[in-house]
Amino acid sequence: MAKILVTGATGTNGKALIKRLNELKADFRIGVRNQEQAEKLFPGSQIAQFDFSDPNTYENAVQNVDKVFLLGPPLTLKVDELLNPFIDFLNEKGIKRVVYFSAFGSDKMGSSLDFHIKIEEKLKNDGFDYTILRPSFFAQNFKNYDYENITERGIIFSVAGTGKVGFVDVHDIANVAATALLNEGHSKKTYELTGPETHSFTDVATLLSDVVSKEITYPNPSAAQFRDVLAQAGAPSFIADYLIEVYSAIVNNEVNIITNDIEKVTGKKPTSLKEVLKRDFN
Ligand SMILES: NC(=O)c1ccc[n+]([C@@H]2O[C@H](COP(=O)([O-])OP(=O)(O)OC[C@H]3O[C@@H](n4cnc5c(N)ncnc54)[C@H](OP(=O)(O)O)[C@@H]3O)[C@@H](O)[C@H]2O)c1
Repeated sequence: MAKILVTGATGTNGKALIKRLNELKADFRIGVRNQEQAEKLFPGSQIAQFDFSDPNTYENAVQNVDKVFLLGPPLTLKVDELLNPFIDFLNEKGIKRVVYFSAFGSDKMGSSLDFHIKIEEKLKNDGFDYTILRPSFFAQNFKNYDYENITERGIIFSVAGTGKVGFVDVHDIANVAATALLNEGHSKKTYELTGPETHSFTDVATLLSDVVSKEITYPNPSAAQFRDVLAQAGAPSFIADYLIEVYSAIVNNEVNIITNDIEKVTGKKPTSLKEVLKRDFN
């Protein structure tokens, strides 16, 4: 069986994918920046030193590899400039099968966040045997990014307006990624991955109130208020700009869409947001 290189393995989606690949007894290798940390996270797995920004790490990472799960870091601008040298390296090595982790709605975001689209185009134009995953906003974002606000302050702090989005469980995304990596029939396909229903952030506050048995509210801050709070917390200003732009797709109700791609690829219905919140907040 072909060997897969998993990038981004220590993150939210990478960990979910490794779990799924292990369940399926797949043959894979993990490329990480911090080998010591990865050995604790993934005991018994094949681990290689790997950094997109260090071409010296590429050759060893792709030993015996003929498929790559490619995931770039979040809250980073110009991800295309970070990933392109590795994509060019793969092309030179003839490693053409790439499952790329993009984002739902990235075609609707402004020019400072056009990196997913640029990478998708590069994979298409450079003759890769690609599968593009475009997941919606993760259901796990509430635990990952807003846990303290929710549990200690009783608020969801986001800049999502009143628009709706189909939050998706990262384990459903991982199941699609593993299916595409391990089976035929997913070449040159783009999958848009959403949960089973759309919710506004006010809806999420209601769901969370039920899950944690206390009142959670969504204050719906303006972009200026959001920027001020992040600045007071010491966050660099590009973080607020980045998040305001990402969330503008929700504000403008452009991602108020449900697809059936998860069920089409995996045969399983996507997990509801409430199920994920129950898992994450109990
Ligand atoms: N949040 C959302 O709702 C959402 C929705 C759709 C799409 N997305 C997309 O999802 C992606 C992020 O996924 P995630 O949340 O699973 O990420 P994550 O948990 O933040 O993990 C990022 C991973 O990238 C690795 N990494 C960072 N810089 C690297 C480098 N220079 N070389 C090699 N590896 C590097 C990190 O490794 P270390 O352990 O070394 O730091 C980590 O494994 C982004 O592309 C984002 O645009 C996000």
